[in-house]
Amino acid sequence: MNKTILITGAAKRIGREMAKAFFDKGWDIVIHFNNSIEDAQSLADQMNAQRSNSALIIQANLDHAKDIEKLADLALSKNGRIDALINNASTFYPTPVGTFSEANWEALMGSNLKAPLFLIQAFCEELKKNNGFIINVTDINVDKALINHSIYLAAKSGLQTLTRALAKELAPDIRVNAIAPGAILEPPNVEWTSEQKNKIINSVPMARMGTEKDIVDAAIYLSEAEYVTGQILNIDGGKSL
Ligand SMILES: NC(=O)c1ccc[n+]([C@@H]2O[C@H](COP(=O)([O-])OP(=O)(O)OC[C@H]3O[C@@H](n4cnc5c(N)ncnc54)[C@H](OP(=O)(O)O)[C@@H]3O)[C@@H](O)[C@H]2O)c1
Repeated sequence: MNKTILITGAAKRIGREMAKAFFDKGWDIVIHFNNSIEDAQSLADQMNAQRSNSALIIQANLDHAKDIEKLADLALSKNGRIDALINNASTFYPTPVGTFSEANWEALMGSNLKAPLFLIQAFCEELKKNNGFIINVTDINVDKALINHSIYLAAKSGLQTLTRALAKELAPDIRVNAIAPGAILEPPNVEWTSEQKNKIINSVPMARMGTEKDIVDAAIYLSEAEYVTGQILNIDGGKSL
């Protein structure tokens, strides 16, 4: 039986490219999605056409504990094994002081912090058995205090803290690392003006936006780096310097 990786938020964008890269390396893929069923299904269809039974899709809204539990149960029962988990799914929007509600708190904390932790707990025994690894996807803005995003940043900051704490707690059986992307893609449904884009590019020593491949390369590295745990890998073209 092939090794299997569960990637949350894998129907689109960075998660999708990570799923494709692990598939190309021979892994079976559990593609988690929330709303993007067509993208998830087409990705799974492409993979299963190349290698039968190599991909399955599971829907879950990671804001809800019941859905998190359902995702973990289905991933294990339908696939039979899990060797790695990438906590990639994320809700992202601004919450200036004076505008936010408890629902905003629940949504931003849910996908970015609560779900990763509860998924790790749900898969802990399985990952231990398989000497697996976990990659949490955070954000370099945790250290840059991106204005008007306090709740999102608190959640991603918590995810970085979990990464270090759980790396120690779960060693030597499971490695836990994080990737902190810089400016990779415009937020979903947002189109930056060329002026906005240039301003960002001018703040990046490597003089370009990142690409999905830059994050994929880091994920593949961490999947193979057997002496690396508890690390936050900034993939940001030097923006955080
Ligand atoms: N893009 C960047 O430049 C950048 C910069 C810094 C950090 N990051 C981090 O890198 C990761 C990937 O970035 P991205 O831009 O590719 O992510 P994204 O497109 O914003 O989100 C990825 C997926 O997360 C899923 N998701 C959101 N809320 C959810 C919920 N409540 N329950 C379940 N799934 C939910 C969505 O799935 P559905 O579409 O199926 O609903 C979405 O497709 C994220 O963790 C992000 O915070 C990205």
